[in-house]
Order: sequence, then C-alpha cells, then structure tokens
Amino acid sequence: MTILVTGGCGYIGSHMTWNLVDQGKDVVIIDNLSTGFKEQAPSSVPIIVGDIGDSDLVAKVIEEHKVEAIIHFAGSIIVPESVTDPLAYYHNNTVKSRSLIENAVKAKLKAFIFSSTAAVYGNPAGADKPLREDVHLEPISPYGSSKLMTEIMLRDASLAYGLRYAALRYFNVAGADPKGRTGQSTPEATHLIKVTNQVALGQREALAIFGDDYPTPDGTCIRDYIHVSDLVQAHSLALDALLSGHESFVANAGYGSGYSVKEVVEAVRSASGVNLRADIAPRRAGDPACLVADSSALRSITGWEPAHADLGKIVKNALDWERHLLAKD
Ligand code: UD1
Repeated sequence: MTILVTGGCGYIGSHMTWNLVDQGKDVVIIDNLSTGFKEQAPSSVPIIVGDIGDSDLVAKVIEEHKVEAIIHFAGSIIVPESVTDPLAYYHNNTVKSRSLIENAVKAKLKAFIFSSTAAVYGNPAGADKPLREDVHLEPISPYGSSKLMTEIMLRDASLAYGLRYAALRYFNVAGADPKGRTGQSTPEATHLIKVTNQVALGQREALAIFGDDYPTPDGTCIRDYIHVSDLVQAHSLALDALLSGHESFVANAGYGSGYSVKEVVEAVRSASGVNLRADIAPRRAGDPACLVADSSALRSITGWEPAHADLGKIVKNALDWERHLLAKD
C-alpha cells in the first residue's frame, strides 16, 4: 500500500516521509512548496507539486499511486498570522482539509492521520497539571479553531461514512533528524528553540524572553518540547493501530514533562558553548503559563515510547541542522 503524505516537504512532513521510507514503506507526497523544500524529502519519493484543495489532483494521485492512507500535515502554522488573516487560515487549514477528507471518503481509504495541535485547548483551566484530551476545548486563535474544525469534520465523517482517523494534538515540536537529513528550514521561524539557536549562531542579536512573571518556578512559561522524530514515530504507530482495526481516536503528543523558557536558554548555552544574550521582554499575548501533555492515551493505544525525550538532544539536533543551513548560505 502507498501512504500519501501531504506537506511532505515541510518540517514535520519531511521527517514523517523519512520515517516511512526507513521502514521500507511506499510514500507519495503532495506539497505546494509554499513553505517546504523538495530536497528535504528522500529523493526516492515522488513529489507531486500541487494543492491538497485540488480534489481532481488528489483523486488522480490516490488512484495512480494506489494510496490507502493519508497522513495530513499541509497547512499554515503561525499563530499571530492567523489572528491578522483568519480567513486565510480557515481556507488553507479548514476548507482544504474538508476537500481532502472528502477525497479520502470517496476513495474509501483505510486510514487518515491528522496533524492537530495543543492550540485547540486555548488557555485551559488546570493546565498546571498534564492536560488530558477531554478538557474543555476553547481555542484562542483562528489557527487553533481552524484545526479544531478539522477535528470535528473528521469525527463526523467517521460517524457518517466510517472513515477511520487519528488526530494527534502536538505540543511543542522541536529538534531535527538525528541523521541530519532534514530539519526546520522556515526562514522567519518564531519557535523558541529555533530562535534561540539562531542567537547562539550569531544570526540574531538576542533572544526576547516573553515574560518572567508567570506563576511558574522561574517565572517563565513552561512547554512540553517533543522531538520531531518521536512525533513522527507516533504517527506511524497510530497508522498501524488504525490499520489493524483500532477505532478512531484523538490523542495528545507530548512527553508529559515541561521546561521553562529559561531552561531552554540554558540548554542552548550548554549545547552551543555560547553565552547567548537573552533579555526579559513583556509577555506575548495569548501565551498560557504552562502547557504539558498527558500522553497516556497515545501510549496505551499505540504502544508509543519516546526514544529522544531529552532536551539536550532536541537542542543539539536542532543546532546541528541550523549549522547545516548556515553552511549552505
Ligand atoms: C507552538 C506553536 C503552535 C502550536 C503550539 C502547540 C507557533 C508560533 N507556535 O506554540 O503553532 O500549535 O506550539 O502548543 O508556531 N518564547 C520566547 N521568546 C521567543 C519565542 C518564544 O520567550 O522568541 C516563549 C513563548 O512565550 C512560549 C515559549 O517560548 O512561552 C514557546 O513558544 P513557541 O516556540 O512560539 O511555541 P508556542 O507559542 O508554545
């Protein structure tokens, strides 16, 4: 069987494609290359340059490549951008996902894995403890809403047409392929670990720590950073679970333990050997103090056991990729 990876030239999608190819699986990618790079995917994998909202193209790819499952990453991910241009996010993330889901239903595909996000929770009460999937969902950005709407479409499509799906709610994805084959290449990245590494490598002058007056031990926000290789392995296991008959499910993807912004800065200082500059800045709107996953659902359904749950390793792999990007310029 062939697995269609949408957004397979992007950050997480390219790691997914390498993971599947490493297992000897057949993959085809659809990517519009708006943020992805062809060279990040294995050269053995066919890349169809096009849009997932183009249902004729998707139907053709499904038929020609004998696709039986979809792992869907293509989408927009920048929270502040979703606030200033919500309709673009609802179009790119929600409307196009609806079209892709319809393709999956019409072709009677066996499984659909969806890249969801912890942003569906918003600013949840009780977030000083690891979050379970059944807490109240109240996204505070159009980005989070656009992903939640797709989860709802999948739930209803599953009930009505029997489409089997898994939606994985990512916490803070970071790191890069330990073999150095791919990593996060987005030029204007806003993610903490990437930005801090860029400061360490002299590409940015200083890191702004967004707030040190949160109710956490050192006053800075706590997040659950998950190594991208562990995340894609969770997708692979989720796919296996659905293919061997498990019912549809929604599960958090994180380690269940968090690090503060200051701890991340220390990890980068230690991995890079650079005493990088980090200034305290005002809080960033919409940042919850603490977001850590309860990942027991993912573990019990799929048997997932992280292999890279180590902040030092996450930072080192990301730093190696950043150096690789610098050397290319
Ligand atoms: C990230 C993703 C979001 C995803 C979410 C899941 C972005 C911008 N955010 O959110 O798509 O859905 O994980 O939980 O794509 N920080 C600084 N200085 C910086 C950058 C960040 O202090 O220059 C702090 C932030 O205030 C936050 C933490 O670092 O407390 C992590 O921030 P970030 O890497 O942007 O991720 P999230 O906003 O948590």
